[in-house]
Amino acid sequence: MLRLSLHRLLSVSPRGGGSCIMQSVRGVQTPPKLQGKVALVTASTDGIGLAIAQKLAQDGARVLISSRKQQNVDKAVRELKEQGLDVEGTVCHVGRSEDRERLVNTAVQKFGGVDILVSNAAVNPFFGNILDSTDEVWDKILDINVKAAFLLVKLVVPKMQERGGGSIVIVSSVAGFTPFPALGPYSVSKTALLGLSKALAPELSPLNIRVNCLAPGLIRTKFSSALWQNKSSLDQLTTALGISRIGEPEECAGVVSFLCSPEASYITGETVVVAGGGHSRL
Ligand SMILES: NC(=O)c1ccc[n+]([C@@H]2O[C@H](COP(=O)([O-])OP(=O)(O)OC[C@H]3O[C@@H](n4cnc5c(N)ncnc54)[C@H](OP(=O)(O)O)[C@@H]3O)[C@@H](O)[C@H]2O)c1
Repeated sequence: MLRLSLHRLLSVSPRGGGSCIMQSVRGVQTPPKLQGKVALVTASTDGIGLAIAQKLAQDGARVLISSRKQQNVDKAVRELKEQGLDVEGTVCHVGRSEDRERLVNTAVQKFGGVDILVSNAAVNPFFGNILDSTDEVWDKILDINVKAAFLLVKLVVPKMQERGGGSIVIVSSVAGFTPFPALGPYSVSKTALLGLSKALAPELSPLNIRVNCLAPGLIRTKFSSALWQNKSSLDQLTTALGISRIGEPEECAGVVSFLCSPEASYITGETVVVAGGGHSRL
């Protein structure tokens, strides 16, 4: 019952949750924490990316939505605009250099620059023993999950410099700390992202750009549906957690908004784990 109410609260409130609003601190109205900021979120037409895009916009950012399929982009943009949020959309398959360039150029054309990048796209084309994974599997996973994230960072850094700084959040996973069974190559790619953020943070801090990671645990999305649609496998995965239930995409979104905001101005090279208390360190 409690679980059901929490799920309703989490899924209904943000999805229905209206336009960005002034925040009140001790009765004094303050602007939303991301007001004036422009955010790019990859893979943001569904799941965790969509929840992040929505939260950044609710917190005052102008957000560019993107994913591979035009109809998904159109739908997500329509939904968020109906909530009064300031969003636009463009197609971006993160593995294609022309799409990555169009993403950044569209943000500049429509919103005047880039302050925030959330690199959220990932694929997993392989389940099984790691020794059975092929050359092609590794190429695809590393190209999309790791290389594309880096190449996008490289594209946005000059744009952030023009605005005096910025914030980057890379979506990793708790699988980056402890590989998930049967998801070896995917897990290794998520470990690489933890390393990527550590390598980028000191180089970008003189440019006033912070780089952090989000490491979700099991979150209810299409991507993870094979793990939670079957009740016995879900129970097995969640009983070991401190909070014994699956997480919701909206439970990842506030953390990302915080990391992108001035409230996190002294945080870089860090990973925030949103995993219901599951084991989460290397
Ligand atoms: N769900 C979990 O339990 C979980 C746990 C840990 C980490 N994560 C991470 O969280 C991130 C988001 O996953 P999710 O669970 O939210 O997935 P999801 O709900 O299945 O959403 C996937 C999104 O990615 C887009 N997409 C897929 N391939 C893309 C590509 N090559 N380029 C651009 N967009 C692409 C999809 O739209 P199109 O089909 O239109 O492209 C869709 O918007 C991933 O990095 C994943 O590794 C998820």
